[in-house]
Amino acid sequence: MINTTTLQNIYRQNAHLTFKGNNGNGRHDWLRLTPAYSVHLVKQELDKHDSSRVILDPFSGTGTTGICAAQSGHDAILADLNPFLIWLAETKSYNYSAQEISQARTKLKRILKTANRLSTEKLWTPPIHNIERWWHKPQLTALARLIASIKSLSAGKENDLLLVGFCNTLIKVSNASFNHQSVSFREIPEELSLQNEERNVFSIFLDNTEKVIKSAETNLSGKVIVVESDARKIKIPQKADVVITSPPYVNRMSYIRELRPYMYWLGFLQEAKEAGELDWKAIGGTWGTATSKLNTWSDERKIPIDGFEQLIGKIFCANGKNGQLLSIYVKKYFYDMWDHFIALNKVLNPGAQLTYIIGNSSFYDYVVPAEKWYGELMSAVGFKKIDIETIRKRNSNKALFEFAIRATK
Ligand SMILES: C[S@@+](CC[C@H](N)C(=O)[O-])C[C@H]1O[C@@H](n2cnc3c(N)ncnc32)[C@H](O)[C@@H]1O
Repeated sequence: MINTTTLQNIYRQNAHLTFKGNNGNGRHDWLRLTPAYSVHLVKQELDKHDSSRVILDPFSGTGTTGICAAQSGHDAILADLNPFLIWLAETKSYNYSAQEISQARTKLKRILKTANRLSTEKLWTPPIHNIERWWHKPQLTALARLIASIKSLSAGKENDLLLVGFCNTLIKVSNASFNHQSVSFREIPEELSLQNEERNVFSIFLDNTEKVIKSAETNLSGKVIVVESDARKIKIPQKADVVITSPPYVNRMSYIRELRPYMYWLGFLQEAKEAGELDWKAIGGTWGTATSKLNTWSDERKIPIDGFEQLIGKIFCANGKNGQLLSIYVKKYFYDMWDHFIALNKVLNPGAQLTYIIGNSSFYDYVVPAEKWYGELMSAVGFKKIDIETIRKRNSNKALFEFAIRATK
């Protein structure tokens, strides 16, 4: 039996329950990423458990769950398969000593001095396609100076704080804006003063990085372990008692799209094809070669979801080749999530409690009821007391909502 409830006010978008709720929220605000969920949402869930519980997030992204958990005294395990996000979550959940904080400030001053002295001739910039659309020349030069100067620092954990400040800066001064599934670029003004613009980038970097260092002064009371692991065969160092997570949505939003600039500048990506390869491993990924690989994907198992094949069939017939591709996309997504629930069951203690935050989606006006299908998959895997709560309206499309699906092992 799957129980369903609806929060009051779901017809509002409740933006505080999205990544926007993390603005101005210390470590949670270090780098703003659209797929992140809200610290308020996680706190509501955490408040239901006492602090001796080990919290797991198998799709941990920017680490919201783990940092929230550790701030309220829980130990947490975070898993994701994107190496940049692993680095970011580790950096955000590390407890910096007073010496590391003071080193970070000393190095911050040094960076600007070195950056100003570097000759522009041999500056490295990342191999991003059409990079001049992302940054005007002065901004690009300033960023190249900054990264060269950060790389020249002596080793130390505090360098990661400077890199977070750098990531924050590179996106603030870029011309890109991220729309639903695409990236668009602002027009380039006729003439820019090299010196003024560079100075502007440096001053944004100083402000951002100081904010990051300031909030790193407050330590987390719980311990956070971050592991690189595929959620479909998740492996973690100890069993968990509580899962709070927000997996990819069935909406063709590839995380790599928004993460690419950071990943190139920090050296996690060297060539374009690597982005497609990484996205193919991600559930719901459609970037680059991930899309063409979908065409040859198949799985002969019968998925335990009522009406699954019928809805997939309708999407398949809806819009020629696009409909066919999207039907495979939706199908693979739920097979991947099925594998995830099977694997998850093995790494949880008896009585473990799960909360999954997920949105439904719509393809050619056919609503894919992700929340209901999650409930059916969880039930087929053996989870009990399944409850689906509608928590907010997603956007102007009247059919799209966000849900919390809860279950017990
Ligand atoms: C909606 S985001 C999670 C965001 C997170 N709640 C936060 O606040 O930042 C989903 C995450 O799932 C990760 N992911 C996708 N496929 C995965 C897989 N097969 N195994 C592990 N993580 C995966 C993505 O890299 C992404 O970080």
